Amino acid sequence: MLKEKVEKILVNQIGKEAYSSNLYLAMASWAECNGYPGIAQWMYAQSGEERMHMLKFVGYINERGGKAVIPAIEEPPSAFKNVTDLFKQTMEHEQYISEAINEIVAVCNEEKDFSTHQWVQWFVNEQIEEEASVSNILDRLNLIGDNGNLYLFDRDIMGMRNSGGAEA
Ligand code: FEO
Repeated sequence: MLKEKVEKILVNQIGKEAYSSNLYLAMASWAECNGYPGIAQWMYAQSGEERMHMLKFVGYINERGGKAVIPAIEEPPSAFKNVTDLFKQTMEHEQYISEAINEIVAVCNEEKDFSTHQWVQWFVNEQIEEEASVSNILDRLNLIGDNGNLYLFDRDIMGMRNSGGAEA
């Protein structure tokens, strides 16, 4: 049985992962409309992963005797300044999610819920990977510079997702 405080923060995370999924879906749509099929593919895949994260929380809460309530989701932004802005916002969002996951770990410690503490480690590692892959993309964008060849970048990022290099 989950303790109340643990259940509450896990249910809260369902909404955060659902928002993440919709945010990346909005980014995928923006990329598609602006002529970046590679970035769109990366973002669609990312959106799918976030939905998978959300489902993991739903499944775990219910399995442990809690109630996985599905919250309303805030509308994500639909316009972005440019490709760098898109990935900067992705980075900021992932850092925010990492903090949220750390907060879950802290509550597990407080409540001495070592099963959930162990379960959530998968997300701790996932966040390390997600931040690293986005940081890698931002480094590339930085190298390309403002007037660089985004056509090639867009083609490259498609390959990164396929080869697992930018998996998140
Ligand atoms: Fe589910 Fe990208 O954190």
